[in-house]
Amino acid sequence: MKTASRFFLAVIGFSVLMPTFAEQDPTITTIKARQGEMNIRAHNLGPLIAMAKGDMPYDAQLATQLAANLKFLLDLDTSRFWPPGTDSNSYPENSKALPEIWTTYPEIGKYAEKHDKAVIELDAVAGESLEALRAKIGAVGDSCKGCHDEYAKEH
Ligand code: HEC
Repeated sequence: MKTASRFFLAVIGFSVLMPTFAEQDPTITTIKARQGEMNIRAHNLGPLIAMAKGDMPYDAQLATQLAANLKFLLDLDTSRFWPPGTDSNSYPENSKALPEIWTTYPEIGKYAEKHDKAVIELDAVAGESLEALRAKIGAVGDSCKGCHDEYAKEH
């Protein structure tokens, strides 16, 4: 009985969810996925910047973890997140990704490389000391801003 009602609930849950998935434009799901990844970056970077600025106490363990999370994201294959035709002109309500990403491709790769390098250098030392964190965090922030200035609408 218990199993049966669980199954029944699962079926109801599924039928409630399915139409939502089916009606969602798959392109918007893709845009949300890449924005989600960006938000995870920001969520990890925020406390690191706060520590560097002295807005929160330096915590070596947390700094290590957050920098490792940023580095972990470098391994995520995001190639399917950026299909042509998903720029801010085509999806003005949903995306801030400027068409230049695609029209000047692979130029944006240079900005991604700068970001990768800065994150790898930060990850190597973030847990050592506040001074070490401060020495490397700027380049990470600059790498985010550098790409946004060029390829993302103001936000
Ligand atoms: C190589 C380019 C590039 C780099 C590097 C980059 N971003 Fe982004 N970011 C973008 C683009 C393009 C968008 C717009 C995406 C869209 O709206 O479709 C964006 C959007 C965002 C958003 C808004 C997401 C939303 O919900 O609309 C946040 C937050 C963000 N980035 C944070 C970061 C942080 C933090 C870093 C650095 C740790 C970073 N980004 C590095 C290109 C980049």
